[in-house]
Amino acid sequence: MHCSADILQARTTLKQNFSISSVHRNGEYEFQEPKSEDEVVNVIYVDKNGKEFPIRGKIGDNLMYLAHRHEIEMEGACEASLACTTCHVYVISEHKDLLPEATEKEEDLLDLAPFLREDSRLGCQIILNKELEGLRVQLPAATRNFYIDGHKPKPH
Ligand code: FES
Repeated sequence: MHCSADILQARTTLKQNFSISSVHRNGEYEFQEPKSEDEVVNVIYVDKNGKEFPIRGKIGDNLMYLAHRHEIEMEGACEASLACTTCHVYVISEHKDLLPEATEKEEDLLDLAPFLREDSRLGCQIILNKELEGLRVQLPAATRNFYIDGHKPKPH
């Protein structure tokens, strides 16, 4: 079991040796509390039934791992390696325009996501910063794995 000082040290070492995206692959960072109020970025997750989960995140948190920490039902089958669509979310606040443009790879994956919309993004590609204070994201009705598991959507 690691104490938070060990994790912080490991992260610092990792940061020196790898790119920031490598640091956010395992989700340990998201389990650390903000060190000061200046770091806090509040996010609201909305589940597929419309239930809201206000969460206190921090600068640098990966939206998907932050969801995992708080047991919000965002999957993440490929662990943020851009190889699935199970972290699909809708960015339902005006912050959509503040996010970096999706890469071609993210766009290609989103094209495979069920219930794709204009405001669709992959949650594991969203890293919190202060500009994203108040970000609201909603989970889609289902993800691709759900279908693979044998679910048959009912017609409306
Ligand atoms: S977890 Fe697979 S692309 Fe985000």
